[in-house]
Amino acid sequence: MKIGSWVPVGALIVQALLLGTSALLSGCGEAGAATSEDSYPLTPSPYRLSNKEPSVPVTPQGQTAIAGILRSCFGEPERPFLPGLQAADNLNPKIKPDDIRDGWRGFISGKSSMPGSPQRSDGNPVVRGRQLFRQHCVHCHGYYGGGDGPTANFLMPKPRDFRRGLFKFVSTDAKNYNRPTHDDLRRTIAQGIPGTMMPAFGPREGIPEIGIVAGFAGPEGFDVDAVAWYVQVVAMRGELEKKLVEALKQNNNDLFADDDLVPNAIDGVLSAWDGKRTVGQIVKPTAPRPPRTAKAIEESVKKGEQLYRTKEAQCVTCHGKTGKGDGESAFKDESKRDKDDWGEPIRPANLTLGVYRGGRRPIDLFRRVKSGVEGVMPGFGGTLTDDQIWNLVDYVQSLALESKPEK
Ligand code: HEC
Ligand code: HEC
Repeated sequence: MKIGSWVPVGALIVQALLLGTSALLSGCGEAGAATSEDSYPLTPSPYRLSNKEPSVPVTPQGQTAIAGILRSCFGEPERPFLPGLQAADNLNPKIKPDDIRDGWRGFISGKSSMPGSPQRSDGNPVVRGRQLFRQHCVHCHGYYGGGDGPTANFLMPKPRDFRRGLFKFVSTDAKNYNRPTHDDLRRTIAQGIPGTMMPAFGPREGIPEIGIVAGFAGPEGFDVDAVAWYVQVVAMRGELEKKLVEALKQNNNDLFADDDLVPNAIDGVLSAWDGKRTVGQIVKPTAPRPPRTAKAIEESVKKGEQLYRTKEAQCVTCHGKTGKGDGESAFKDESKRDKDDWGEPIRPANLTLGVYRGGRRPIDLFRRVKSGVEGVMPGFGGTLTDDQIWNLVDYVQSLALESKPEK
């Protein structure tokens, strides 16, 4: 957009958004009568890392613009959808991510009308996911997934705030911060997070194709798949909101100052979460695990122990000499510790307990060491070979086997 034209056009768009909320709602499909649940309160501040930090102010016009964009991408709070996800029945056309982005591009350049949010959501698994989330997750993760449900105050670690788009237990390569795959979210929800208050919702019969064994006692009729899609929507929505708030800040409170701002922000989030992309980035070991003979295991554990104590691996700094999570960086006084992405003090795992939050399969531990844990543990894929990482996995497992009950 040329200089000189951006002020009036930008102002016009904001005005259209302010006046046009109902036009947006009824953009296509059924007309949506606004109910009190039709608008998410925008996150007070997506920048807030902890409750103590001040929030970033957003003007009312900015808020309206952001709300309109989020609605066109992910639907209403009680009728959410995920662009690109084929709905269960053919009443619902698949909403393509590119169409949303191009819709906004056309609107901003004056070539088409404002993109609306498709209202037909019957049969959409994300809507089912939202319903189950309200029943089972809200008291910890909060009504809008902000990690701020009533129970959250009593928990440590705190329930995840999904709106930051950050997850710890993913199978994907962490190089450019990778989002979880759909199966990663399914696995977390099905097996819970051992050693924390996050319960397991897994079905009794298990989900063999993603390594979930039978024997969980999840609630009757619980649909892991649908809830996983919904968690993804909340995370994507939060990420986009944060991007838009940042864009507002950098562009003098005008999201339409530059033709590309909004389409690029939408594109960035939708493509980062694209299922083909995330699945393509699953970490796969290039070396086989050492053979499971007593001798090979013993050798591997020995090598792992040496590595554990080297400078390259740094495991000792955080996990401590004996693996109890009491390395020199883990100050006893938690207020002195570095904070994680959610503003909580970092707590290295006690490896002698044999409780693994991200899953106990050898491949889970391999990925944890290779890719790290978002915001709290670095990945070692750049410094160690896959053979060495397998040695560390064997050593870590031996720590748990060796530990004796304390007197
Ligand atoms: C009793 C409280 C509680 C309930 C109920 C609960 N969670 Fe959690 N959840 C947690 C806690 C605590 C964590 C963070 C654990 C950690 O940081 O290691 C968490 C983390 C998560 C994560 C993040 C995993 C990652 O890789 O970062 C997902 C996804 C999740 N929960 C989904 C759900 C869903 C879906 C439901 C409902 C079906 C649910 N949770 C119900 C407490 C809860
Ligand atoms: C900068 C500190 C730091 C370093 C260095 C570090 N870790 Fe960690 N590690 C952590 C923290 C913090 C956690 C807890 C993650 C969480 O919040 O769930 C953790 C968790 C783990 C877990 C448990 C994963 C799970 O699923 O619960 C394993 C295994 C592990 N680390 C192994 C290692 C090994 C092996 C090394 C050395 C190659 C290493 N770590 C180096 C901080 C570190």
